[in-house]
Amino acid sequence: MSSKDKVLQFLTENDSTFTSGQKIADLLGLSRNSVWKAVKQLKEDGYKIEAVTNRGYRLSGKRDILSEEEIRKNLVSFPSIPIFYYPEIDSTNKKARELANSGAQEGTLIVADSQSAGRGRLGRSFYSPKGVGIYFSLIIRPRALSDTAPFITTAAAVAVAKAVREKCGKDARIKWVNDVYIDGKKICGILTEAVTDMESGTIESAVIGIGINFYSGSFPEELRDIAAPIFTEKSSVTRSELTAAVTDELLSIITNLPDRSFMQTYRSLSLVIDKDVICRRGNSTFEGHVLDVDEMGGLILNVNNKIETLRSGEITLRLK
Ligand code: BTN
Repeated sequence: MSSKDKVLQFLTENDSTFTSGQKIADLLGLSRNSVWKAVKQLKEDGYKIEAVTNRGYRLSGKRDILSEEEIRKNLVSFPSIPIFYYPEIDSTNKKARELANSGAQEGTLIVADSQSAGRGRLGRSFYSPKGVGIYFSLIIRPRALSDTAPFITTAAAVAVAKAVREKCGKDARIKWVNDVYIDGKKICGILTEAVTDMESGTIESAVIGIGINFYSGSFPEELRDIAAPIFTEKSSVTRSELTAAVTDELLSIITNLPDRSFMQTYRSLSLVIDKDVICRRGNSTFEGHVLDVDEMGGLILNVNNKIETLRSGEITLRLK
């Protein structure tokens, strides 16, 4: 992590008090001069940092507190849902699964400021550093047949993309199946895990896990070209506001689930319709041109002049 990112992370986490440059330097293992340079660069980037003689530095502007109270304050349609907040947890999806198994109600929200073992799709891990992201899982009980599962995933992508567009004013788009992108880089990943009742063929409960890169932190080398934050400078929108907006949006879609009009929004926000893509399904890789997304969320492709529908797997955009 660069000195600038370290200082930014420190000031974000400690924005209720002033801290002297020397103390920041000691705590972060930096020289006093590099703290001064980092503050100067951050100010040039647009951060508002107060500097007071004998007191030190403090990040000003709206305080971005991620907490149960702040999220609840911003929920409009579902203000009474149970919310569990953790400054640090292994995985909110894991916690949500445990709570769902012990009977937690639909709409239970588990939120964390950081995860030590965040889970991604296809057995990958999800990078979840403190202070710069939002990591949350929502428990739902759709009382629907298990073939409804694909809708849950697409609904989550629609909810995130809509909330980011409305709250953050950014051109968020959906890359099949449920990643959310801004300017060609991934700002959000979604992992849905469902438990089905084998006897009735219905979904007993599902956990929708959402990880959003909110502020700029430093990504590990392997993510630098593909992932990005929503904001590269301190924003007027807080992480709690965005969490509440996504939750409201997602619960409204889920609680009206026979209504599938959100699929139209999914299509209109798609990043891949009418694009050439490389598809990976199991061990096979092939190229195709995306024609549309069907009612079940499947990707309709032209593959060597044959129409194929992709229901699982992954795609990458083919750059010309
Ligand atoms: C992906 O892009 O592969 C999906 C990433 C999903 C990450 C979120 S963060 C909150 C929730 N808890 C987890 O352990 N994973 C999901």
